[in-house]
Amino acid sequence: MPRFLALTSKGLGGVLEQELKELDFKILKASQTRALFECNWEKLYFAHLMLRTATRILLPVLDFTAYKNEELYKQIQKHDFTKYISPKQSMWVVCNSSDKSGPFKNDVFVSQLVKDAIVDQFREKLGQRPNVNKQADLQIWVRIKGPNFSVSIDLTGPSLTQRGYRTEAGVAPLREHIAAGLLKLTKWEGQKDMLDPMCGSGTFLIEGALIALNKGPGLFRKDFAFHKHANFQKEAWVRAKNLAESLINPELPIQILGYDIDHRMVEIAKNNVKRARLEKFIKIEQRAIKDLKNTLNHPLVVCNPPYGERLKEKTSLEVTYKDLGNKLKAEFKETEAWLLSGNKELTPALRMKAERSYAVDNNGLDCKWLKYPLYK
Ligand SMILES: C[S@@+](CC[C@H](N)C(=O)[O-])C[C@H]1O[C@@H](n2cnc3c(N)ncnc32)[C@H](O)[C@@H]1O
Repeated sequence: MPRFLALTSKGLGGVLEQELKELDFKILKASQTRALFECNWEKLYFAHLMLRTATRILLPVLDFTAYKNEELYKQIQKHDFTKYISPKQSMWVVCNSSDKSGPFKNDVFVSQLVKDAIVDQFREKLGQRPNVNKQADLQIWVRIKGPNFSVSIDLTGPSLTQRGYRTEAGVAPLREHIAAGLLKLTKWEGQKDMLDPMCGSGTFLIEGALIALNKGPGLFRKDFAFHKHANFQKEAWVRAKNLAESLINPELPIQILGYDIDHRMVEIAKNNVKRARLEKFIKIEQRAIKDLKNTLNHPLVVCNPPYGERLKEKTSLEVTYKDLGNKLKAEFKETEAWLLSGNKELTPALRMKAERSYAVDNNGLDCKWLKYPLYK
């Protein structure tokens, strides 16, 4: 049975593991940012359609130690890369070293050497070599940790976070897989209404509706890298897609609502909702926090307020955070609010005490996903 490695952002490894379990995958190993699992190819296609928090799935093919160029070259040639594409297709090597203490200090050099070893293999076996370019049909991922190398075939292509519905966004949009992962951390599955009072481009609302509808976010995508590989199994793909489509709930018995102070963001969010074909389930209106009112039934409140990088912004944002805290306490009872904080100097302005805190890497920024119970 093949083994696959799903990747995610730091802080969401537990959610990824939980998602894989819920979808009945056999997990072999899991960490903060990755999960190794075992399944057949049909289920691997299904994973691409259904996983919300994964950014990419790899097929690990080699694990070895190398100290010299010749060793690296020889080790790479131990795997047959000619089985994935024809020499008429293209390839690219992506190198990533997390620890520069090993014998190879330069990622670009390693990429070249790995590329040469693979190209030579094609030439020797088939008399022809593939082209090398970034938008390649076959991407080979090399992870280096000291003298230890892990080589994998990328099965995904553009990151799974790019569902395809969000072609417009504001200044600091949440990546789609992070929004989905944060919602999963709240344990919300669509059992009650949801509100994002600072919705920006609408990511929480759209990912929330997809969770509640049990619609796989990969269903928006036309293709993945595995479609271009020689071992792609078309019938298995069709079966996986039919299964994912059959799982979608046709209706939502709840309301999903978003507000934003900026009319341009409201327009953008509405367009994204339309592209995701979710207009029936999500409502968005222009409204400032200071005018926030609860029109829903004990909704889950989720919020990704601005963090304010400049000092001048900080003072005005303190007022916004204070308004938010006051409105949450006055308007929302017997429910909970979750806030993604990227600036710990601003959260005290809420004048609320977080009951739980999860550390999450939000696109390179260390953030906290904070739970505020509002029960009286
Ligand atoms: C960090 S962005 C949210 C990004 C969003 N999660 C997304 O994925 O696109 C913060 C949003 O809060 C909105 N905002 C700022 N101050 C506000 C206020 N006082 N009332 C309502 N919305 C506000 C901004 O217009 C911006 O769209």
